[in-house]
Amino acid sequence: MEKITAIRGFKDILPRDASVFREVESIARQVFTSFGFKEIRVPIIEKTELFKRSIGETTDIVEKEMYTFADRDNENITLRPEATASVIRAYIEHNMSAAEQITKLFTIGPMFRRERPQKGRFRQFNQIDVELFGDDKPQSDAEVIFMLMHFLISAGLNSLQLEINSLGCNSCRPLFSKAIVDFLKGSEKNLCPDCQRRIHTNPLRVFDCKVETCAATIAQAPVILDFLCDNCKDHFGQVKSFLNDLEMPFVINARMVRGLDYYTKTAFEVKTNALGAQNAVAGGGRYNGLVSFLGGPEVPGIGFAVGFERLVACLPEDENNNFKTDLFIAALGAKAQKIAFGLTNRLRVAGISAEMDYADKSLKAQMKRADKLNSSFALIFGDKEIEEKQVLLRNMQTKNQQTVPLDGLLESIIKIIKER
Ligand code: HAM
Repeated sequence: MEKITAIRGFKDILPRDASVFREVESIARQVFTSFGFKEIRVPIIEKTELFKRSIGETTDIVEKEMYTFADRDNENITLRPEATASVIRAYIEHNMSAAEQITKLFTIGPMFRRERPQKGRFRQFNQIDVELFGDDKPQSDAEVIFMLMHFLISAGLNSLQLEINSLGCNSCRPLFSKAIVDFLKGSEKNLCPDCQRRIHTNPLRVFDCKVETCAATIAQAPVILDFLCDNCKDHFGQVKSFLNDLEMPFVINARMVRGLDYYTKTAFEVKTNALGAQNAVAGGGRYNGLVSFLGGPEVPGIGFAVGFERLVACLPEDENNNFKTDLFIAALGAKAQKIAFGLTNRLRVAGISAEMDYADKSLKAQMKRADKLNSSFALIFGDKEIEEKQVLLRNMQTKNQQTVPLDGLLESIIKIIKER
């Protein structure tokens, strides 16, 4: 039969990696909790309109990358390409702004974007997403960025570069957009067809284009920081000052626009040189008009998302990350096998990881498996030991052996292993 493989760009997270994921998740929960963030879990499918309206109709994500389907009743639904829109939808739907002035949420889970798969870029990937609602002060920007960096470092990442920028607001950004349109006039022929179109629909997106001639053209363009209104300039200045207070190093990347349209004021990305071309391990920013634009109250927000797979790819291989088994039971012969079967499963119920071999192989083969399973102990017995009413317990590390009476074997083994 022809084998059925996973879909291109969709990746299995194998047990070894899954345990790293679990560890990183627990660090995230610990860090976020001490900064006052609470977990929320939102559906992975939403109405298509939610993403179109929040991320922006003319972004790459909405134009090209969403997994959108007509449901059986013909409603348009989309596998979420990011979590911010869904978290805001839930925030509005559950009227969370009424319960507390500042709401701090995080969520962890899979996102879907139909991008060209390559190293560090998948069509299903996981994000650790954080959102803070209800505060527009620059301290919140610095708090969220500081927490992100603290989390990444706690997870084991190093050589990180934090880049920040301000994307202005509804009053100053239009002036910048106009300046970009003016700048690009006459250079259209150097731009890819997408960017030629973007000049008219969403000129800032040209900054995000990976096509070499587009990147070269836009490299000479004016930058948004020269167009900020006083309010945005002041906010950005304070964010920088609070980051300095926290001794958090950063660089300003005045050409960073982010791939989603909802940002206002502060935007940031964390890059690492451990990843190759897909070097952004996290990104985020402020989105002050978005909650009301999605039908909610006039509440400011800021957040970020970490690319889970990219984070894990930066971590050094953990040599000690081997799975361990407490006990392997090497049972020889039918009688021993029968006793071992009951014992193995009762030990498991008692919280001890126990394994045995059902095939009644030779002692040598069974001990080989015990080694392979990284067993701390092996219990060895056959007909002779059953007759003598005592079995052999071997410490696999020290190779010391002791005899344990068959009567009360379960309790004795539990005691020995738990007291180890
Ligand atoms: P984003 O920059 O689109 O932001 O994604 C955040 C992170 O997700 C990226 O820095 C990257 O590490 C990871 N990522 C994105 N696409 C892929 C992919 N195809 N394969 C693997 N990893 C990927 C957002 O999604 C915003 N919602 C962040 C945010 C939250 N802004 C405010 N609040």
